[in-house]
Amino acid sequence: MRYAPLTQAIQGETVDAWDIHFKATALKEQDPSVIVLSIGDPDFDTPAPIVESAVKSLRGGDTHYVDIEGRDHLRNKIAADHQGRCGQQVTKDNVILLAGAQNALFATSMCILEAGDEVLVLQPNYVTYEACIQLTGAKLVPVSMDVDHDFCLDENALLQAITDKTKAIYFATPSNPSGVMLTKSELQFIADLAIKHDLWVMSDEVYSHTIFEGEHVSIAGLDNMAERTVTLNSLSKSHAMTGWRAGWAIGPTELICHLSNLSLCMLYGLPGFVQEAAYTALTDPNALAEAEQMRVTYQRRRDRLLSCFNQQPLLTCVPPKASMFLLVNVSQTGLDGQAFAEMLFEQQKIGVLPATAFGECAANYIRISYVVDDKQLDDACARIEAFMAQFTQVSNE
Ligand SMILES: Cc1ncc(COP(=O)(O)O)c(C=O)c1O
Repeated sequence: MRYAPLTQAIQGETVDAWDIHFKATALKEQDPSVIVLSIGDPDFDTPAPIVESAVKSLRGGDTHYVDIEGRDHLRNKIAADHQGRCGQQVTKDNVILLAGAQNALFATSMCILEAGDEVLVLQPNYVTYEACIQLTGAKLVPVSMDVDHDFCLDENALLQAITDKTKAIYFATPSNPSGVMLTKSELQFIADLAIKHDLWVMSDEVYSHTIFEGEHVSIAGLDNMAERTVTLNSLSKSHAMTGWRAGWAIGPTELICHLSNLSLCMLYGLPGFVQEAAYTALTDPNALAEAEQMRVTYQRRRDRLLSCFNQQPLLTCVPPKASMFLLVNVSQTGLDGQAFAEMLFEQQKIGVLPATAFGECAANYIRISYVVDDKQLDDACARIEAFMAQFTQVSNE
């Protein structure tokens, strides 16, 4: 049968990078000693009050069609939280519930991009951006972060990438895979450019609740950015709710109307019981305390991994200020990220992600997710130490 050309756009070149992850998860079914550090799915259960509220809602008959944009009490709460955090004046009319930040990214891309547009994406970037952009007919233009300076914004590279076709700038802050947060002055630089060239800004903030140090800044709160910024967020990471698909977009009311029309033919709204669970996640003191406990645990794990890697002179880490990932430069072993990850898996049964999946600039890196318990993390550190014993310094000359 014949398929639509868009099927090409969603194939992506990043699929190979997941090979090790798929191999590791398959092998783990037979061999429990395999350690999977390649995926960003929290190892915690969703806090009980959230689950209970979904069950209660279902038992109470909350099984019907819903308002497409989402329920008022939930949208009001999301709007109030966003306004409290970043200062942007918003109401529920600026908020639409969608099936995770992923669905919000896809739907928004469909509403703001078209064939011929160019989208500047700060790289390394989350893997699905490419397909979401290409599906619209637009082109992803990679703008590498400054790899020599802990992946901070390369202002010059961003400036140089702008053409008269540029329509939008996409980024995640904090970033997956680097855990780096854009500073207020970097965001102001992006904002000034966006205003000058009349660009949309897609700010993916799904890790904004998993911060260890520093201040998270939402670009939407900067002067004159409200009309052109779409802020994406979800409960996937903050509340260990990846399977619930509870996410949202916050943006100008006109965009929310377009997203609502799209949702009508794509999703027909987020299920009512998921929305009730989401409201509980954002309001119940016990659920919030558990989410905070998860954040503290991630921070402890990050510190554990950093102290393991800091003892390896051939490995250098990008210090993550947030998220659940650690990006490690392996080039001094003489290998790139892909070869290193393959060898680590073959020899030590540890699955990590070659970071080339996130962009060419990260080809010498691996991404490690710390979504396993302390025992597995300690075991992984010991195996990495043993693995590294075979390498000697490669001259850079
Ligand atoms: C940067 C980033 N954005 C979006 C998503 C998708 O999140 P959600 O589960 O809310 O769709 C992820 C998931 O890993 C992510 O890392």
